[in-house]
Amino acid sequence: MKDFEEYFIRNIPTIKSFHPYYNEALSYIIKNSGKHFRPKLMLSIVKEYEPLLLESSYKVAMALELFHTYSLIHDDLPAMDNASLRRGKATLHTIYNDAIAILIGDGLNTYAFELISTSAFRDDVKVELIKILSTNGGLSGMVLGQAIDLEFEKKPLSLSEVEIMHLNKTAKLIAASLLMGAVIVDLDKDTKDKLYQFGLDLGLLFQVQDDIIDATLSESEAGKPTGLDGDKNSFVNILGLNGAIEYANSLAKKIEDEFSNLDLKLQNALKEILEKYLYRHERK
Ligand code: IPE
Ligand code: IPE
Ligand code: MG
Ligand code: MG
Ligand code: MG
Repeated sequence: MKDFEEYFIRNIPTIKSFHPYYNEALSYIIKNSGKHFRPKLMLSIVKEYEPLLLESSYKVAMALELFHTYSLIHDDLPAMDNASLRRGKATLHTIYNDAIAILIGDGLNTYAFELISTSAFRDDVKVELIKILSTNGGLSGMVLGQAIDLEFEKKPLSLSEVEIMHLNKTAKLIAASLLMGAVIVDLDKDTKDKLYQFGLDLGLLFQVQDDIIDATLSESEAGKPTGLDGDKNSFVNILGLNGAIEYANSLAKKIEDEFSNLDLKLQNALKEILEKYLYRHERK
């Protein structure tokens, strides 16, 4: 997806104002890209089914990534995880201040919806994309998951409660990324439902792997502080490291099963990204 990476960097917004470092902060955080997992999921589907729509989809993919970036800026704040490193660089609030980090996060959240609403798709498609991102990322999705994560520090949850927390804070946005790709290429309802469920499992695995990363990688390997989940209901704290790895392995098997029941075209679209991520908890 080299073209998307170029599009992403070329389209960093610059806002006219007399604020001394507003644009600098915005560009700092957007340029410091991550793995682009969510845009890649969405774009893989578009590329497979409707390659002619790929370029128009970049704007929506950028919306997904900037929405995710907003969640990370806020996640790193002192009131949340209090992290000083993100993607190998100093976090926004440590370079500038908490207020601008909160506000750039807020701005990216709403900018994501501006991007979708000004994309080239039909109005009904855009409304559907906005609905999917807002319901999965907002009050009954990522935000709820983050609220549970922080409220229950030092208060152990049951395994099924931790699954619910991870499904909300991480899996729903990942499932939404797949579903948004499916909406753009107009897949049928049954396929969309299967794909969304597959995305929830993949997203749950993604967060379990992230918990394993926190317990097993160094700060420089992870590009973010590790060993930070000590007080949290991470999978490693709930199940132990070996238990979390076993859980990840059995979830990965379940995902492989679901994958083999997807349409062949979808399998083709997602094969490469799945190979890269499905067992990443077993690699260093
Ligand atoms: C980190 O997400 C936070 C989680 C939801 C696990 P990513 O692992 O996708 O982070 P980046 O975007 O690649 O930095
Ligand atoms: C964050 O989970 C999930 C979000 C919704 C941002 P973590 O707090 O585990 O993510 P990292 O480890 O800081 O990337
Ligand atoms: Mg967190
Ligand atoms: Mg964190
Ligand atoms: Mg983590």
